[in-house]
Amino acid sequence: MKIITIQNGKGGIGKTTTAWALATGLPQRHPEFKTLAIDFEPSGNLTYLMNGDFVNSPTMYHVFNGDVDIRAAIQHTDQGDTIAGNSSLTKIDKLFSGADYLKGINTIPRQTYRQQREDVV
Ligand SMILES: Nc1ncnc2c1ncn2[C@@H]1O[C@H](COP(=O)(O)OP(=O)(O)OP(=O)(O)O)[C@@H](O)[C@H]1O
Ligand SMILES: [Mg+2]
Repeated sequence: MKIITIQNGKGGIGKTTTAWALATGLPQRHPEFKTLAIDFEPSGNLTYLMNGDFVNSPTMYHVFNGDVDIRAAIQHTDQGDTIAGNSSLTKIDKLFSGADYLKGINTIPRQTYRQQREDVV
């Protein structure tokens, strides 16, 4: 399995669009590839592009909070497989700083941690 992270400190330069293009384009051109687009943004923009549901379905927040197994959070849409993001992700800093099972995250330099929250395919 390969994890591709689209990261840049500047806003509005096509991170989400690139993540969507990779998630949808790779399997179209190379059917041997399966992709899963994971949206870590509170805006839910990647979920929107993937035609996912970010209102009634579990998001990555619910996965990290232990509410659902990550497999149960995967949505199968006409754009491909995706895990939703929405405004619940604004609470994730608090969750990470308080959760015992994620103690190790506090040892990761803050910039690296931020990078992990960008769009992931
Ligand atoms: N290659 C491109 N050519 C022209 N316009 C583009 C291209 N990629 C993205 N855009 C447009 O640029 C705008 C910003 O794109 P996008 O939302 O992907 O950026 P972002 O880096 O994810 O933004 P944010 O920092 O707000 O999350 C959108 O309107 C998108 O349609
Ligand atoms: Mg974006």
